[in-house]
Amino acid sequence: MDQLIVNRIGLPVEQTEQLAAGLNELLANYQVFYMNVRGFHWNIRGEKFFELHLKFEELYNDLLLKIDEVAERILTLGFRPLHAYSDYLAKAELHEVKDLSEGRACVEAIVEALQLLVAKQRKLLEQSEEAGDEATNSLMSDYVREQEKLLWMYSAYLG
Ligand SMILES: [Fe+2]
Repeated sequence: MDQLIVNRIGLPVEQTEQLAAGLNELLANYQVFYMNVRGFHWNIRGEKFFELHLKFEELYNDLLLKIDEVAERILTLGFRPLHAYSDYLAKAELHEVKDLSEGRACVEAIVEALQLLVAKQRKLLEQSEEAGDEATNSLMSDYVREQEKLLWMYSAYLG
């Protein structure tokens, strides 16, 4: 029987490399989403200003924490997180959203982005399970659970 080659934290080398690549792609999407939400926070106008300005701040602060967690998970797995905007834009599936100031349009963009993140994280959940990477698995599971709840709330806002 072939012996499984493992890295310094005892995970299979090849699967871990694929997982790190997936996490880097996730990181790129998070970075684009983060900057989009900052734009919504700054440019929002209208009667819901005070409510949404604050909600968007809450969201981008949470995204920032996740960005750091994902990047440091990549390092823990033995790889390098992307850190240049040019790489993020090249890798991310999410597009930059510019100059939105209408609340509904911002919330719609947030719902779409969260749906994309949840789908990507579900894929990473499967991949990490196959690799026996419990820590990445539980991180992805937390994100999916939290963002499914956000999807309920932001969708409820849209009516
Ligand atoms: Fe602010």
